Amino acid sequence: MVSRESGDYNRRGSGIGASTACLFHENGAKVVIADIQDNKGEALARKLGESACYIHCDVTNEDDIRNLTDATISKCGKLDVMHNNAGILDRTLSTILDITKSEIDQVIGVNLVGALLGAKHAARVMAPQRKGYILFTASACTAIAGLLSGNAYAVSKYGVLGVTKNLAAELGRYG
Ligand SMILES: NC(=O)c1ccc[n+]([C@@H]2O[C@H](COP(=O)([O-])OP(=O)(O)OC[C@H]3O[C@@H](n4cnc5c(N)ncnc54)[C@H](O)[C@@H]3O)[C@@H](O)[C@H]2O)c1
Repeated sequence: MVSRESGDYNRRGSGIGASTACLFHENGAKVVIADIQDNKGEALARKLGESACYIHCDVTNEDDIRNLTDATISKCGKLDVMHNNAGILDRTLSTILDITKSEIDQVIGVNLVGALLGAKHAARVMAPQRKGYILFTASACTAIAGLLSGNAYAVSKYGVLGVTKNLAAELGRYG
């Protein structure tokens, strides 16, 4: 579950991203872990060993994403898979009546704009390779309405689903 405890629901490490990194690593991939929780990211990279590293990346900052992508190419020579997974929840039990503009901006900034910028920089290096996989973590809230999330989160994850489909059409011609 995405942690919602103590209002700190957007600052927990590990989760799906860490599990994914471990799984790719187990299957022979060189893994570049990117997060804003440097201690947890670095600890995971150390645990995985030589073929893993950690780079600080706030997905709301395009310069961080550009740097992450370029550093990955420098270290690994290519980028085969980009998993855009960073995500935060909106406030527990927030409703359309009490949602705030800053909350909307924050959730959409991380979940949707962050994923879109991740895809942009992945595509920048993958299209010339004519090969690559851009993955997103969306949510079941795009299929089941009402109980799983607040409105900002639902908007962000529907956006992720839309971007995924649109990019498949746009980037498919590059393989
Ligand atoms: N856990 C679930 O039940 C569930 C269900 C559907 C979708 N998801 C989605 O899966 C993804 C991972 O969720 P999780 O359950 O592993 O949660 P998690 O809180 O364990 O992991 C989210 C990670 O995103 C990182 N993050 C937050 N803001 C960031 C930013 N600005 N820049 C870079 N990293 C940032 C956090 O530090 C954290 O490591 C999210 O996109 C979430 O919306 C989770």
